[in-house]
Amino acid sequence: MSDSSQKIEARQVEKVFSAGMEDEVQALGPLDLNVRDGEFVCLVGPSGCGKSTLLRIVAGLLNPTAGRIDIRVTPEKSSPISMVFQDYGIYPWKTVEGNIRFGLEIAGIPKSRVKEITEHWLDRMDLSAFASSYPDTLSGGMRQRVAIARALAVEPEILLMDEPFAALDAQLRQLLQDELLNIWQKDQRTVLFVTHSLEEAIVLGDRVVVMSSRPGKVVLDQEVPFERPRLPELRAQGDFNDFKNELWGCLKGEVEHYLERINSLTKKTEVK
Ligand SMILES: Nc1ncnc2c1ncn2[C@@H]1O[C@H](COP(=O)(O)OP(=O)(O)O)[C@@H](O)[C@H]1O
Ligand SMILES: [Mg+2]
Repeated sequence: MSDSSQKIEARQVEKVFSAGMEDEVQALGPLDLNVRDGEFVCLVGPSGCGKSTLLRIVAGLLNPTAGRIDIRVTPEKSSPISMVFQDYGIYPWKTVEGNIRFGLEIAGIPKSRVKEITEHWLDRMDLSAFASSYPDTLSGGMRQRVAIARALAVEPEILLMDEPFAALDAQLRQLLQDELLNIWQKDQRTVLFVTHSLEEAIVLGDRVVVMSSRPGKVVLDQEVPFERPRLPELRAQGDFNDFKNELWGCLKGEVEHYLERINSLTKKTEVK
């Protein structure tokens, strides 16, 4: 039975990629996942377990090979879902302002509103001074701010983020996590956020979902027990580390599976 209080509802979702006649990769599932309206859910799991595949299925960029996925968004909205990728995904030939504006134009926002919204997000992401700069003149952190501004400016009902901060150094990463937290705490959009980092997942998420090694299934789905608004100091709390260790206990086994598989593949290749 489908449950209309859920914004995203995945039931027994699977994805098999077929590379050739016999080469099939079971990339994902069967996986069940619910995300409520306004909830911030973080997905963690070993490399190659199907996290990006799941996000692409939710975004409607890929079809599952089995199972069903229900996404409950307002049908008349032109861009109900936005996605932010690890490698920024912004246009190098457009200025910072042009990138944000373009997203709004594509979404069919009336011209009269586009300028106002663009300025609002430039200001909110501290990018106003760089409005006419091109992305390749900016630092990685600033480029990622542009990507986030572009994704949020269209006011999506669902924001999908695929390791958006993975390429950044630790300090910048923390800065952007805190910024995202600030924004989310004001707007409370539904967010599905993929990360390698348990710390990041716990700082940001209402729930942390741990996936198994490929094909990714849910092995743990845990509420984060820390109140909001969450402050940067949370990371230094003892109970933060206790919770992180508890989750690591689960994730570690999955990462070990993944490493075993890599090792056995390497050995097979050596024998050949
Ligand atoms: N287009 C594709 N064709 C074939 N295999 C794919 C394709 N996309 C992903 N895969 C495989 O599916 C598995 C899951 O990939 P992915 O979702 O990118 O994992 P993650 O994001 O968790 O690292 C991997 O084994 C990957 O190689
Ligand atoms: Mg990925």
